[in-house]
Amino acid sequence: MAGKRPTPADRAREAVVETALGKLDLDAKTRLLAGRDMWALPALPEIGLGRLVMSDGPIGVRGVRWSADDPSVALPSPTALAATWDPELARRAGVLLAQEARRKGVHVLLAPTVNLHRSPLGGRHFEAYSEDPYLTGRIGAGYVRGVQSGGVGTTVKHFVANDAETDRFTVDNLVGARALRELYLAPFEHIVAEAAPWGIMTAYNTVNGTTMTEHRYLVNEVLRGEWGFDGFNVSDWTAARSTLGALRGGLDVAMPGPRTVYGEALAAAVRGGDATEAEVDEAVRNVLRLAARVGVLDGAEPVVAAPPAEVDGPALAREIARRALVLVRNEDGILPLRPGGTVALSGAAARDARFLGGGSATVFPDHVVCPLDGLTAALPEGSLTYAVGADPSGELAVATTGFELRAICRDSAGEVIGTAGSPSGQIQWMGDDLPDGVTHETLHTVELTGTFTPRESGPHTFGIKGFGPFRLSVDGTTRFDGEQLADEGDPFGGIFGAPVPRGEVELTAGEPVEVSLTHVVTSPERMPLKVVVFALAHQEPPRDEDELIAEAVAAARAAETAVVVVATTDRVESEGFDRTDLRLPGRQDDLVRAVAAANPRTVVVVNSGSPVELPWRDDVAAVLLSWFPGQEGGDALADVLTGAHEPGGRLPTTWGSLADAPVTRVTPENGELPYTEGVFIGYRAWEKERRTPAYPFGHGLGYTDWTYETLEVTGTTATVRVRNSGARPGREVVQLYVAPTAPDAERPARWLAGFAVVGAGPGESAEAVVELPPRAFETWDEAANSWSRVKGSYEIAAGRSVSDRRLRTTITV
Ligand code: BGC
Repeated sequence: MAGKRPTPADRAREAVVETALGKLDLDAKTRLLAGRDMWALPALPEIGLGRLVMSDGPIGVRGVRWSADDPSVALPSPTALAATWDPELARRAGVLLAQEARRKGVHVLLAPTVNLHRSPLGGRHFEAYSEDPYLTGRIGAGYVRGVQSGGVGTTVKHFVANDAETDRFTVDNLVGARALRELYLAPFEHIVAEAAPWGIMTAYNTVNGTTMTEHRYLVNEVLRGEWGFDGFNVSDWTAARSTLGALRGGLDVAMPGPRTVYGEALAAAVRGGDATEAEVDEAVRNVLRLAARVGVLDGAEPVVAAPPAEVDGPALAREIARRALVLVRNEDGILPLRPGGTVALSGAAARDARFLGGGSATVFPDHVVCPLDGLTAALPEGSLTYAVGADPSGELAVATTGFELRAICRDSAGEVIGTAGSPSGQIQWMGDDLPDGVTHETLHTVELTGTFTPRESGPHTFGIKGFGPFRLSVDGTTRFDGEQLADEGDPFGGIFGAPVPRGEVELTAGEPVEVSLTHVVTSPERMPLKVVVFALAHQEPPRDEDELIAEAVAAARAAETAVVVVATTDRVESEGFDRTDLRLPGRQDDLVRAVAAANPRTVVVVNSGSPVELPWRDDVAAVLLSWFPGQEGGDALADVLTGAHEPGGRLPTTWGSLADAPVTRVTPENGELPYTEGVFIGYRAWEKERRTPAYPFGHGLGYTDWTYETLEVTGTTATVRVRNSGARPGREVVQLYVAPTAPDAERPARWLAGFAVVGAGPGESAEAVVELPPRAFETWDEAANSWSRVKGSYEIAAGRSVSDRRLRTTITV
């Protein structure tokens, strides 16, 4: 309904909402706005309102359990989805996620993330789409349309300017009005107009002096007023600070509940005369409208009565992963691999795939296909070898491979009151999400216990993540018995923080030992609800790094082709912190150089959610970027390496070195982070500074060639004819860039104004018809506080990337 005329069904739902609202007293209303627990709003049976459940988001639907015993399909990272440049594929991803949400009883997906890649140091960039607002908006709109077509709500997030993680709860991002409108608000505006999202999530950070959960101007005037958004506004988790500030700032729901700034505090504010019940009603109305849309308000017809046709999750995950693979270099057409050749695979991530980024986007799939599995299945027996080569993790990580664990809950008398399976060493129980029979009142200790079967002999390190008293025993001996102290800064530190090493044990490969970690439960003070969060961590025995590289080099020398998988770790890319550099961790650069020196046919697969430096890129034959490719990533990689499919991706963000990157700062000073670069981020900034990145925005190769034949622009419709001049069928992402012909220091040299994916067989041509949006010719006029069309002449260029423009024409607007 946002920005569009209400349909009869909308009007019928509004009537049900008004009737329900009229039956609620003040306490019930304010309780609803406070949230019930970590993920849900309270049910109000007196008006037929069911429990409304939300869940992260964006690459899968975790559900209300943060654990591996309730598996979810894990799609590729949002950067990967954006690399497909295909809003229709994003829509199909959304349809699958709605199906997952319905399966798990979830009504609202906490996604998509449409903040921008402002500085390459942003630690959470894997979870956003792009440095470009238009591409971000198009992919985000496709995604929202898909999810909502399955009858499930979305919360487009994080509104607005949550473009980095450093001091995310307090940072005041100082953003000029033009940059705010033309860059950071633009994807939200586009999605509201094109996909009418049923929700928005307001960010932790402050913008120009006002925290986003209280930003009257941006929420009430811009989002709701100018754009006509009619959905609900939920705070990011624990972001709401003050009762009246949030109410006046247009915040509808403060999560997680129930101890929030709403609830009793809001009821008291109304009774004390500081707020009116009408103001409370505004927020409740938005929540009830959402409930009506998703079908948890009796008497209201949900927007989608019957779920769409069943989608095959793993098949779609694989399709997106291969369509997202960006081939940035392919000397002498080394890829696809020649059938029948031998392959030497190396890299720790080839075996222990980094299939997703860390933080609230984490989901637990029931299986993950790593590159080693994918290539083993795709290549003839005997043609593939594997060597670790370099292991970048070199650090404690949540216990997974080789562990068989379960959780035993006891009361203070030591009696067992419940048990739960725990496929990994992470325990993360929020609010009432406890094992059957267990309550926070009765729960005293949780013991994670079971066996560990090492795959390597040597000294294994065990560690603990979390706060409070712990006892760790391995192989019958107590290794730690004491307390881990809380980090004051981040209430989610127990989830995203680093594990602490607590004991080294000499073990033999293949011989299982008993492990046990007992935690006396202490819920952190700052959490708005009770949680049980801790993890058993483990690190493999260190191997001699030179020896590991030598093994991989020997294997590479003996094979026709060497494939090296390099990756970031979850200490590099995650929610909760930013990056300090763009280097590949550990000895991975050394591994690539050594393998490339031994075998000229070296292909490097880069498994990272966002850009890393590739200092050896001109010394290897091919470079393929796989992002965090989701649960089917290994099969998708094999599809592309063998040539069963071509790599379909194009860069949604510029890849270059940190030293050359024009905008890098993510650390506030005195609490403030000024966006001094204005509208010049991403390729707009690289062009302004006349610097050449490693690989430009939009770049990506397929397995065929394309000739750009004609470009015609009639009015604002661009028609581009391209011909597949290569030997196999392929797909091309035709990109259109707009550039003012008269130099204008205030505006970027050019910007993306449209794109389309087309396909054609060998020798055939295809036509891309692209509508250039009015915004492509407008700027935000700060003095007039409005959009203004900049008349004059513009070059319209069609091409393969921002720096590979093949055809041009000039128009006057
Ligand atoms: C993240 C949100 C997420 C929420 C709930 C927050 O820390 O910033 O993106 O949806 O947690 O998990």
